[in-house]
Amino acid sequence: MPQVSPALSRRRSPSEILAPLARPLAGLERFIHAQCDAFEPGVADCARYVAGNQGKRLRPALGLLSARACDGRPLDEAEEPLLRACAIVEMVHIATLVHDDIMDGASLRRSRLTAGAKWGKEISVLLGDCLFAQALVLAASFPTPEVCRRVAGAANLVCTGEILQTQRRFDLKLSVEEYLRIIEMKTGALFALAAELGAQQGGANAERAAAFADFGRLLGTAYQVYDDCLDLVGAEKEIGKSLGADLREGKLTLPVLLLLREVQDSEHHLVSSILLNEHATGRALLLDFLRKHDAIRAAAQRAREILRQAASRLDRCPSTPAHQALAETVAYLDEEMAELK
Ligand code: IPE
Ligand code: IPE
Ligand code: MG
Ligand code: MG
Repeated sequence: MPQVSPALSRRRSPSEILAPLARPLAGLERFIHAQCDAFEPGVADCARYVAGNQGKRLRPALGLLSARACDGRPLDEAEEPLLRACAIVEMVHIATLVHDDIMDGASLRRSRLTAGAKWGKEISVLLGDCLFAQALVLAASFPTPEVCRRVAGAANLVCTGEILQTQRRFDLKLSVEEYLRIIEMKTGALFALAAELGAQQGGANAERAAAFADFGRLLGTAYQVYDDCLDLVGAEKEIGKSLGADLREGKLTLPVLLLLREVQDSEHHLVSSILLNEHATGRALLLDFLRKHDAIRAAAQRAREILRQAASRLDRCPSTPAHQALAETVAYLDEEMAELK
């Protein structure tokens, strides 16, 4: 079994791990900002608002690190095509968040009002489309159609995952495997895209780029399980976005799927009625059941297995600062999940 955690005396925070990327990430902000400025003034204001730099920029960081892990260049260097590729992934991500918040009826994102809460559904749907369309324009500016094909393919998967998830709302027969497939599409696909495009920009051959894509897909899938746990047990103030939507909207996530497999008879009946929103004090009661049956911990455990698989994809990577940063990011998430209960 490959080791998730490198031998470190002290766990570094994500901002410490990603500090060497400060220069390229500042370049990314300027790039995204310029893309927003190029829209019509009325749209530009909205685009700047949703694309503002409150996001964690995880996918661009993954793209930058993947490139530098492949070519061994210093972490503070980022050539324009690499920045462009990372900006494309982040713009698609932002577009999906704008749409996702409409579907979830969420009012808080990145510690401020969602686009939907600010301007309503009509404008927000179209704003998401504008950002996505501009990302495709950028993707089409690479010398070969390959980047555009990959970006469109990943966007297709994200939407497919969101559609399947919506179709299976309140479906207590959803299996763990089906859930994992859905989140691999809706979240894993963009992480995979970031890592793959980054690796390609770093000169990786097809086999290596595919290993990075796999790494990203698994990392993104584990990250979504973590996010799904936080939707149940996290604090809105700390995380800066609306939580509790999954239960309200009937999205059955890993902790509740595992709980459903644990409980029997009358408890099963009660948990089912909570999940189907048939119970007045549903949320508090569900949290009691989740804790009693250790279902959050069990879900986190499953995500940690996925992280271990992710780490194994980079086994054959030479040890560089970029590789170390990727391994530390995985280890950080692993420890965060180990603390969930
Ligand atoms: C939120 O993604 C949506 C999920 C896939 C869980 P992030 O947690 O990366 O959100 P931002 O970009 O930092 O706001
Ligand atoms: C991730 O799912 C959204 C997308 C992949 C578009 P969530 O609905 O869990 O994301 P948050 O929690 O709203 O950020
Ligand atoms: Mg959501
Ligand atoms: Mg969520």
